[in-house]
Amino acid sequence: MIKYFPQTNTFHLYNEQISYVLTVLKNGHLGHLYFGEKVSEHVQPEWFRYALFRPLTACVYEDDPFFSLEHERLEYPNFGTTDFREPAFRIRQENGSAVSDFKYITHRIVEGKPMPKGLPASYVSKSSEAQTLEIDMIDSVADLKLTLYYTIFSDLAVVTRRVEIVNEGQQIQTIEKAMSMSVDLSPGTYERVHLWGAWSRERHLERTPLSKGVQSIGSTRGCSSPDHNPFIAIAEPSATEHSGAVYGFSLIYSGNFIASTQVNYDNVPRVMMGIHPNGFEWVLGAGERFQTPEAVMTYSSMGLNGMSQAFHKLVKNHLTRGEWVKNPRPILLNNWEATYFDFTEDKIVELATEAKRLGVELFVLDDGWFGKRNDDTSSLGDWFVNLDKLPNGIKGLSKRVSELGIRFGLWFEPEMINKVSQLYEKHPEWLIGDPSRHLSNGRNQYVLDFTRKEVVDHIFKSMCQVIDNTEISYIKWDMNRHITEAYSTALPANQQGELYHRYILGVYDLYDRLIERYPHILFESCASGGGRFDLGMFYYAPQAWTSDDTDAIERLKIQYGSSMLYPLSAMGSHVSAVPNHQVNRATSLKTRAEVAYFGTFGYELDVTKMSDEDKLEMQSQIEFFKEHRNLIHHGEFSRLTGPFDGDSNRTAWMVVNAQKTEALLGLYKVMAEPNTGVKSFKLRGLDPNRMYDVTGYDTPVSGRVLMNYGILDIPSFTGAHLIEDRPVGDYQSHVIKIKAVD
Ligand code: GLA
Repeated sequence: MIKYFPQTNTFHLYNEQISYVLTVLKNGHLGHLYFGEKVSEHVQPEWFRYALFRPLTACVYEDDPFFSLEHERLEYPNFGTTDFREPAFRIRQENGSAVSDFKYITHRIVEGKPMPKGLPASYVSKSSEAQTLEIDMIDSVADLKLTLYYTIFSDLAVVTRRVEIVNEGQQIQTIEKAMSMSVDLSPGTYERVHLWGAWSRERHLERTPLSKGVQSIGSTRGCSSPDHNPFIAIAEPSATEHSGAVYGFSLIYSGNFIASTQVNYDNVPRVMMGIHPNGFEWVLGAGERFQTPEAVMTYSSMGLNGMSQAFHKLVKNHLTRGEWVKNPRPILLNNWEATYFDFTEDKIVELATEAKRLGVELFVLDDGWFGKRNDDTSSLGDWFVNLDKLPNGIKGLSKRVSELGIRFGLWFEPEMINKVSQLYEKHPEWLIGDPSRHLSNGRNQYVLDFTRKEVVDHIFKSMCQVIDNTEISYIKWDMNRHITEAYSTALPANQQGELYHRYILGVYDLYDRLIERYPHILFESCASGGGRFDLGMFYYAPQAWTSDDTDAIERLKIQYGSSMLYPLSAMGSHVSAVPNHQVNRATSLKTRAEVAYFGTFGYELDVTKMSDEDKLEMQSQIEFFKEHRNLIHHGEFSRLTGPFDGDSNRTAWMVVNAQKTEALLGLYKVMAEPNTGVKSFKLRGLDPNRMYDVTGYDTPVSGRVLMNYGILDIPSFTGAHLIEDRPVGDYQSHVIKIKAVD
């Protein structure tokens, strides 16, 4: 998978699908040659370079007017020499200079994938699943070493990258910027796809031309945030969902990030991803090492869907861990939208009893069970039960719920503190914030200083005290406030720039400790909905609450956008009450479930208040999901058309199992239109040579016909209905089962 050509000092990383080629340039820096569809093993570096004489160019050597880094495509560009584009890193030395000149020294090709410590990263189960190239680069003036890690997976169109910086000298170095990856793609015209959003409107898709100069998305909120997801795709303008060249980039990280592109006059796009340099600085003392988060790069010649499928496989097979990777994810009932803060033990047991009767497998008690919490003004940090509400404690409640034959799950918000809390009275210094300044307000709560080990220790201990005494098998880990006035009273003045990164390392540390102690607990991450929905989180929590917006129609957009890189098994999706609590829209129970099926599936409403008819429907929905959950969570997902495409009124997506014997198709039409033209959707991923039974059709049809002619859309009102039926109305959905005839 990784070949080194000593004559040209060139490396070729490849598998059956992709090639990634880099070379050592004349001055020892690393040049990028090619990333894309697999090419023949032997590559000639000169083919990919375009050294030209140009006036005004700063050249590396006096006697070579053709060699300037400005005209090279680079791998991890230095600051301060002949390349004037954005550098991948900047390290300030004691004399104040940030100029660097890292040169290739040596490399190693190792089987498998070495893992970083304390950071999430993709992994392999067997060393034959990947190979890793480690390249050491030295700046002999600053006495610094860079090790660049490149891993290629044997069966996935994915290369991952990360960097380690080691201070091998005696002086103190300050890292001002350290991207996880940088690559100068082949010259050309491209478009940029990214996922922007806000609370309740996460991961909406935007596709715009990639323009000259610098464009970037990112977060400086202390978490990956709903504003922009840590993801960009660079697509050829002709690329569609199913064809054309698309590069996808993401970061396995949950803190501040930047994803930037810079297109120069040669039409070469430089793509970079890493920790956002705003607010970041890291002091590297003698002998110390800094490791960047890992970046993921994919290439697809099969459009955006091809890219998404590579990301989905990475998440499912090489990122999420533990028994919940394979175990069926439980269908849950969460009490948040059913009761908010207003519940008693009996009400909870009543909800759980009815839920169990209807087939639900897990009951989740959300916010409001601890301290004196009856609204969002108090008690975060006081992780002991509110005995006024729950007189028998979590222990007694979880016992009652478990005795019903249903699992019990609990909500925590471990990273936060209210000023109205016992914890704050004892430890006001545990808040993030400069004590000499006014502290901004966010949901009446403040962020705990997770850069301090004693804070993480304390929260770990108090969570264990709750968990150890109960029968908890699921935790919803929420995070509802961003970092302002970033300052830690525990860090020295010159290390304040380390706060954001150290904070998120503290979050990962707490996750690690809890997972190690409670390997059977299923974690679902949450951040006011999907506000920290990133590859970093999925290393710890196999699923995440996709959005606080539970309206089925809004969810079409959110789930469609999320599917760009996250698999269905990662997306928390619940059926909630109507009129919907976020948009006041009324959709049918059928449509609500048929959107939520394409996720982890559950309910978030007061089941005791449902009509008997709805309860029967809910029961059969649960049976349906149990029957198909394996297909939904482990099959291959494809988007057929969606809310961000030309016809925003329609969404269609499907999932096919590995044997191509079973598929589910979801069709959604937002607004009813009378007498529309006939429309069909071409299916994906089926076996062209098999015959399939399709729900609603009497005779079997071949995979070839389903994929080349397609299946007809939800019918519109054409007048013929007048004879027997009424028009169907808005917010229609159909989930259609496709099953191979034996
Ligand atoms: C956040 C979550 C919700 C719910 C509330 C509780 O908004 O996203 O699902 O847990 O907090 O306060």
